Amino acid sequence: MENIKIVKNVKLYNKEVRAEFASIMRDLMTHKDFNRLADIKQHINYTRLKHSMDVGYFSFYIAKLLGLDYVSAGKAALLHDLCYHRRAGFKHNMKMLRRHPKDALSNALSICELNEKERDIIAQHMWLITTLRPPRSAEGVVVTLVDKYCASKEFIGSIVKREYAHKACRFPTNPTGSVKD
Ligand SMILES: [Fe+2]
Ligand SMILES: [Fe+2]
Repeated sequence: MENIKIVKNVKLYNKEVRAEFASIMRDLMTHKDFNRLADIKQHINYTRLKHSMDVGYFSFYIAKLLGLDYVSAGKAALLHDLCYHRRAGFKHNMKMLRRHPKDALSNALSICELNEKERDIIAQHMWLITTLRPPRSAEGVVVTLVDKYCASKEFIGSIVKREYAHKACRFPTNPTGSVKD
C-alpha cells in the first residue's frame, strides 16, 4: 500500500531534485569537454548532450527514490556516453556501439575522478546490447535501464512526434547551475 502511494507521488520532473542534481553536477555539466556533446547528433533529432543530461537526471532521481547511491548513479550516467565520434556508415556505427563505453570511460577519467562503482557503471552501460556481463551494482542496473528508456523515447519522439532536442532540453549549462522550467 505504502509503495503504491510512493509511485503515485512520483513526479519525474521534481523541481527540488533537479536543482540538487544541477548543483552537485555543476562542474561536470559546465565542463567544456562535456559541452562538446551539444554538437553531436544522437537518436535522430537529439544531441548527445541532451541524452546524457536526461540519463543523468533520471538515474539520479530513481536511485534516490530507491535509497541507492544517487550521486554515483547520476555522475556515471551523465558521463556514460562521453565520446565524440559521429555517425559514419553502418560498419563504423556498429564498431562504435561496442567501443564507446571504453572511450567514454577514458574521456571521463580525463576530466574527473571516478570510483570503482562509477567506472563499472560506464563500462557496462550497454548490458544486453553489446555485452552480457551485467553491471556490478544496483546503481549500474538503474543507469543501463534508464539509458535504454531514454534512447527508446528519443527514437520514438523523433519519428512519431518529430521532437527536437533543443525544445526538450531542461538543463542549462551555465556556470550558476540554475534550473529553468
Ligand atoms: Fe551508450
Ligand atoms: Fe546512452
